Amino acid sequence: MKLEFILNDKAVSLEVDPMKRLLDILREDFGLTGTKESCGEGECGACTVLLDGKPVTSCLVNAVHAENKQVVTSEGIAQKPLGKLLIACFDETNAVQCGFCFPGFLVSSYYYLKNDGEPNLEKIKTALSGNICRCTGYQKIFDSVMMACHRKQEQEK
Ligand code: FES
Ligand code: FES
Repeated sequence: MKLEFILNDKAVSLEVDPMKRLLDILREDFGLTGTKESCGEGECGACTVLLDGKPVTSCLVNAVHAENKQVVTSEGIAQKPLGKLLIACFDETNAVQCGFCFPGFLVSSYYYLKNDGEPNLEKIKTALSGNICRCTGYQKIFDSVMMACHRKQEQEK
């Protein structure tokens, strides 16, 4: 099929097997290797991207389901003001160790910060509950998102 969609604010198209996974299209056809594969079964969140504004695990999305939609990857989020704010907070709290999980956490955190952003630990934990980190024990990740929520509130005053 000819697949057309918006990728990180740019219209793109390519000939692709309709059953090819969105994860593979992003990595292999567009070189967006920030989107990671770990479990390949929708369990770890390493492959999280935004599809029409909502977080999805791209290992479970086939090409046909991206047709005419908007896809935003961690690379796209890293260019947005709230993405830059999150990256700065993760950096300041040393919340990243091996870094493999980070792009997925960035996407899920961005979705929370953009659509809610309340500095509420339970809500943040729920928002990130689909993402697994094997290194950090999570506390510094939660601290980072909390810091970003507070800073966003300060910016909005
Ligand atoms: S690789 Fe997609 S959820 Fe784990
Ligand atoms: S920092 Fe290594 S998996 Fe999260």
